[in-house]
Amino acid sequence: MPAVKKEFTAHEKNPLASLDEWEDAVLERYPEPGVPAKTKEDFRNYEQPGRDTVREFYRLNHTYQTYDFVLDKKANYLKFDKKEMPVWNAFDFLNQLVDDSDPDTDLDQFQHLLQTSEAIRADGHPDWMVLTGLMHDMGKVLCLFGEPQWAVVGDTFPVGCAYSDKVVYPEYFKNNPDYNRPEFQTQTGVYEKGCGLRNVHMSWGHDEYVYQMMKDHLPEEGLYMLRYHSFYAWHREGEYGYLLDEHDKKMLKWVQLFNPYDLYSKSPKPPVWSELKSYYEDLVGKYLPQTIKF
Ligand SMILES: [Fe+2]
Ligand SMILES: [Fe+2]
Repeated sequence: MPAVKKEFTAHEKNPLASLDEWEDAVLERYPEPGVPAKTKEDFRNYEQPGRDTVREFYRLNHTYQTYDFVLDKKANYLKFDKKEMPVWNAFDFLNQLVDDSDPDTDLDQFQHLLQTSEAIRADGHPDWMVLTGLMHDMGKVLCLFGEPQWAVVGDTFPVGCAYSDKVVYPEYFKNNPDYNRPEFQTQTGVYEKGCGLRNVHMSWGHDEYVYQMMKDHLPEEGLYMLRYHSFYAWHREGEYGYLLDEHDKKMLKWVQLFNPYDLYSKSPKPPVWSELKSYYEDLVGKYLPQTIKF
């Protein structure tokens, strides 16, 4: 029987006031070592926000990210037939996601990317890692193609096999139709033990999309940073060891090296673009083609 595609309401598509709400929730879960965590009152000051928006976001994410959903999104987006533009125009395009309703930060998407890349550069890491920082959230343009927030951001997890209870709000996986498909609910599900993450379908979002966008242009270590930066159940919680191969185990430290730059580099003092422009133009010119395809 052909699956009927569900139409989502506006609320179901966008339960969060902004994508940053998810990032703030991750930061609350994994506060910066040595820095007192912000209190919930510090974090949010909407009139009636409720942290429930994050819970609702994960309910939707865990309910609708099925194995078939992921394959469908891959078939659509990995054709890269939507748009093509020069790299610097792509940052302007991404910045259409700027959100006025977030009282925490007036940083646009580009500023988050630049702060991440500048923090990496300040620590003396190789230039390809600086570029990885600059590009790592480019996949969020999925929102601009009409994707629901829960198919763009959120912790990622393997589909087609049993869920780890270390994925945040695991109770909502009971709502996922895959939960009732026994072939998807053994430990390795449709995969082989030790098959390597490259053979595993992850829940769909900005990580996989930007990885596929960049896969011919960055070294393997940078590609792992892109592809798995939201896979907290792996790189923070050490779950899903039975899917890993030796290569994944070697690459894990690079994903872990990247994560703090993503989470902890938000600074109220934005980098001055005019002073950085020529460095980044050279960097982009060194590794990336003239245009990016979406
Ligand atoms: Fe991200
Ligand atoms: Fe990020």
